[in-house]
Amino acid sequence: MKKGFLWGGATAANQVEGAWNKDGKGPSTADMMTGGTHTQRRRITPILEEGTYYPSHEAIDFYSHYKKDIKLFAEMGFKTFRMSMNWSRIFPNGDDASPNEAGLKFYDDVFDELKKYNIEPFVTISHYETPFGLTKKYNGWVSREVIDCYVRYCETIFNRYKDKVQYWLTFNEINVLTLPGTLFSGAGALADGMESIDFSSEENDNAQMRFQALHHQFVASAKAVKLGHSINPDFKIGCMIAYMCNYPHTCNPDDMLLTQQTTQINNKFCSDIQVRGYYPGYGKRYLEDNGIEIKMLPEDEEILKEGTVDFYSFSYYMSLLVSSQPQGDTVGGNLMGGIKNPYLETTEWGWQVDPKGLRYTLNEVYDRYQIPVMIVENGLGAVDKVEEDGSIQDDYRIDYLRDHIIQMKEAIKDGVDLMGYTSWGCIDLVSVSSGEMKKRYGFIYVDKDNDGNGTLERKPKKSFNWYKKVIETNGENL
Ligand code: BG6
Repeated sequence: MKKGFLWGGATAANQVEGAWNKDGKGPSTADMMTGGTHTQRRRITPILEEGTYYPSHEAIDFYSHYKKDIKLFAEMGFKTFRMSMNWSRIFPNGDDASPNEAGLKFYDDVFDELKKYNIEPFVTISHYETPFGLTKKYNGWVSREVIDCYVRYCETIFNRYKDKVQYWLTFNEINVLTLPGTLFSGAGALADGMESIDFSSEENDNAQMRFQALHHQFVASAKAVKLGHSINPDFKIGCMIAYMCNYPHTCNPDDMLLTQQTTQINNKFCSDIQVRGYYPGYGKRYLEDNGIEIKMLPEDEEILKEGTVDFYSFSYYMSLLVSSQPQGDTVGGNLMGGIKNPYLETTEWGWQVDPKGLRYTLNEVYDRYQIPVMIVENGLGAVDKVEEDGSIQDDYRIDYLRDHIIQMKEAIKDGVDLMGYTSWGCIDLVSVSSGEMKKRYGFIYVDKDNDGNGTLERKPKKSFNWYKKVIETNGENL
């Protein structure tokens, strides 16, 4: 691994911070999402229901535990910590006249604490955390007005933290909006007359609105990149894609073609725009074929061209099969599923484990863009058992991460310019898809269950010491 490789871990504000309404914070879209389970979907509710459990409201209370948690990250030797900022902690309604000083101060404290241990903050500006005020007033990203709110938020945090943060991601997994069922969580929209809507449900999906919202995010991202560079030319600002590695089910040319088209729309469409600065031809055809007409302003083309990103980042969890024929055996994913691959195992949550798919993906991405790449999410969601002696023997997690890191090293040998690796949920946190605590990703165990009970005590798992060694030896000792 090259010198300065960014080893670390990743989280998102809404999944760790809690303190959802403390010190002036307003509600975000994520705060309107109920708990769920592997088999029972979370719901998004337009008003908070009395007696209903909303996991983000306390999460793991990183808000008051951040010093302890960062100390543990430092013990593992983290070079970087990927975190998101809760937009509604800074602008409680999204379009307030001035920012909330207490919110800004909280992130000052977090960045200072990281600095104490020489841990580089890696900040996602928006990680499914659109202020709910913008949902109510503008129907979220469906409206163009939200672009200006986002840019003002960026201007505020870029100016405030210009000497504390160098790495930024404009939107987490921006490409999820190409998938049906993501309008209400991803773009923070409200369905007409909605009482509540299931997370990632295709009911009430509206492709026209989804792609319009996505266009607004492209413009917002490009404006943020340009603005960021003007505030601090040393800023490195990246895109972030949920990479869904697709293989054809068979060598039938129809399967091949469908795999290519699926990969183009689900994976490459957004990064083509964010890295290259224009809508690709296959994308225009897809929109036309699906009767989607995006409203653009004449200046948008120029904005996209001027706001291309400095690096490409992505999350990687699994690969999926694509078939032109209906197939019986399917597997899950948090936002999309696919056909079962007989060569691969699945996790307890039905996610297909494919380390070699990571090498394949890294090559695909780097071949296409030739800009630095960063893996900002990868990990295993699993049930952990606390043994009688208090230890957590998570060898399955070590195996998963080791296998992926081995393939990551192969990709580097293939010539990929890789900046770093941050495993997902380095400390146990709330699952996005199920709202559970039981689906754990961490090196650090947090004592809390699905219903919110527990002491919130932190405890290193076996994987904690393993990852510490990995970082210490710069990936040699796996
Ligand atoms: C990614 C998201 O899609 O997957 C994270 O960026 C999320 O926020 C992660 O937590 C894992 O998914 P889940 O559903 O297991 O939490």
